[in-house]
Amino acid sequence: MPLVTSKEMFRKAYEGGYAIGAFNVNNMEQIQGIISAGQETNSPLILQISMGARKYANMRYLKALIDAGVADSGLPICMHLDHGDSYEICKQCVDDGFTSVMIDASRLSFEDNMALSKRVVEYAHDHGVVVEAELGKLAGVEEHVVSKYGQYTNPNEVEEFVGRTCVDSLAIAIGTSHGAFKFSGQPQLRFDILEEIESKLPNFPIVLHGASSVPQEYVELINRYGGNMTGAKGVPEDMLREAAKRAVCKINIDSDIRLAITASIRQYFCEHPDHFDPRQYLTPAREAIKQMVMRKIRNVLGSENKA
Ligand code: G3H
Ligand code: 13P
Ligand code: ZN
Repeated sequence: MPLVTSKEMFRKAYEGGYAIGAFNVNNMEQIQGIISAGQETNSPLILQISMGARKYANMRYLKALIDAGVADSGLPICMHLDHGDSYEICKQCVDDGFTSVMIDASRLSFEDNMALSKRVVEYAHDHGVVVEAELGKLAGVEEHVVSKYGQYTNPNEVEEFVGRTCVDSLAIAIGTSHGAFKFSGQPQLRFDILEEIESKLPNFPIVLHGASSVPQEYVELINRYGGNMTGAKGVPEDMLREAAKRAVCKINIDSDIRLAITASIRQYFCEHPDHFDPRQYLTPAREAIKQMVMRKIRNVLGSENKA
C-alpha cells in the first residue's frame, strides 16, 4: 500500500472514538520499531518528520527507509511534516512526497497565522496533501496561567480560523507541552476548552501535541543506569485516552520513544561494558520502541485493529 493522507484515518477515528498516533522518526530503528508495532496491533500510523529530523538524517534517506517499511507493512501510513515553520519548508515537503504537512504559525498574530496557513493549504491541496495548523501556544503553558484562555486556544477563534484557511486538522493548546518535563505540579488538561472547541467545530479532527506520558518506569531505568531525569513528568495515559474518545484524532508522541531508546541503551551499556557493536545495543532499543508504541496503541490511542 502506498503512503496515504490522514483524511480517511481521521474520519474513522472521529467516528470510532479513538486517535491515530503520530510518532517522530529520525533513523532506521525508529521507523522499523514503530511500523513493526503497527503491524502487530494492526493499527494505522502517522510517521512524522521534524525540520530537525530532515537536517539530522537527510530527507532522501528517511523517505527511502519509510517507503521500504510502508511497502512491506500492509498498513495505512501517513508521512507528515511536524512543525513546519514556513511556506517554503511545507512546499518542499509536498514536493518530497509527504502526504501531510503541518504549518506551525502559532507564533504569529491571528491574522498572520491564518494568512500563512491558507497559503500552505492552497499549494498542498492542489497536490493532494492535507494540512494541519496550530492555534494557541504550547510552550510555557502552565497551570498558573491566570486569564480565561491565557496561551490556551481561544475557542471563539477556531471557527473563523478553520473556515478561512480550509485546514484539514487543528492543533490546540489545552495544557500539554513538549518534552519530558511537562508539569511542575499536578497534571491538568483543560477539557472544558476542548469541549467548547468540539461544539464549534463538529466532526473536525483536533490534534494534541506534547502528548507523551513519560512513563515513570522508563525514567527510573534511566536514573538507575547513570542518567538524571529527576522530576520528569508527562500527561497521564487516562487523560489522553479520554481526549482520544472525543474530537482528538491525532496524538503526537516523541519524548516517550526517546525515553524508551535511552533507557534500553543505558541499561545495555551498564550490563555489557565490553560490547561495542552497535547492532548489539540497537536491537533491544528497537524492540523497546516497538513495545512503547504497542503500549500507546492499546492504552492511549485505542487504534488496535483499525488499520
Ligand atoms: O515537537 C517537536 C518534536 O518532538 C520534534 O523534536 O525538533 O527535536 O526533532 P525535534
Ligand atoms: P512530546 O514531547 O510530548 O512527545 O510531543 C511531541 C510532539 O508534539 C511532536 O510534535
Ligand atoms: Zn509538537
